[in-house]
Amino acid sequence: MSAYKNLCRRSGKDPKKSVPTKTPGLSERNRPIGIFDSGLGGLTVFKAVRRLLPGENIIYFGDTARVPYGTKSKEAVIAFSKEIAEFLSERGVKLLVIACNTASSLALEEVRGITRVPVIGVIEPGARAALGATSNGRILVTGTTATITSGAYRKLIKKLDPGAFIFEKACPLFVPLVEEGWCGKKITELVAEEYLAPLRKSGFDTVILGCTHYPLLKKMIARALGGRIKIVDSGPATASEVRAELRARGLLNPARRGRERYIASDAPDKFKALALRLLNLRVENVKVKRF
Ligand code: DGL
Repeated sequence: MSAYKNLCRRSGKDPKKSVPTKTPGLSERNRPIGIFDSGLGGLTVFKAVRRLLPGENIIYFGDTARVPYGTKSKEAVIAFSKEIAEFLSERGVKLLVIACNTASSLALEEVRGITRVPVIGVIEPGARAALGATSNGRILVTGTTATITSGAYRKLIKKLDPGAFIFEKACPLFVPLVEEGWCGKKITELVAEEYLAPLRKSGFDTVILGCTHYPLLKKMIARALGGRIKIVDSGPATASEVRAELRARGLLNPARRGRERYIASDAPDKFKALALRLLNLRVENVKVKRF
């Protein structure tokens, strides 16, 4: 058993959770969760949060005017992320989820530095989920160029389990293909083959979908890798972390059914149409906020 699995087993729980201080009132528990991404991809995390926490009010922000983030500089991604975090903070969110691996890799600490509420990124939940899934300690991390170049997953996984062996592959064309709505097209299949087929014999048993757009290409990615591989999508793990954080702070919303609000920085109709087509998500009333 890996050092990481051993540590979790010995302590019986995740070692890093915080403790409650006082019980917040209903108005505080009613405040929304803010979730943001460069575009549609973060909706995969949104869906996981919604599934696990049906009573929560949620504001989702897709930065559709500036997608993709994965080809931008660190400075640009930090600036965009801080702008969105400030915007969502002004809307009274009680917790912020950076539902974007690129922004979580490059801007998590900067966003935490300017917000008063807990900020959860997707890298740590994804890394922990991959370590929990792998049997041979060999893990492939896929992601945008910025995420892979940052080495965020590799560094964190090696910290949690120094014995793990990490392979990394940037797949920069996946995000524009998803944002174009081309998830099922032949050309997307060919791109997936081109990126991933050469890695088939590397001996990893687990792949991290290190971009929140990639769950929309899950089947294609699995096929390109030759099947029989554990696929880690950080969405459900991130949702569990959101629940644990809210519970620890006494901030879980007791309502039966929460409300959703969607905001995009451009092209709200395209956002709405693709959310329905690709995620089977009925996204009503998308507001526009331009920076
Ligand atoms: N979905 C995002 C991620 O998880 C952003 C991709 C992009 O905008 O390039 O990295």
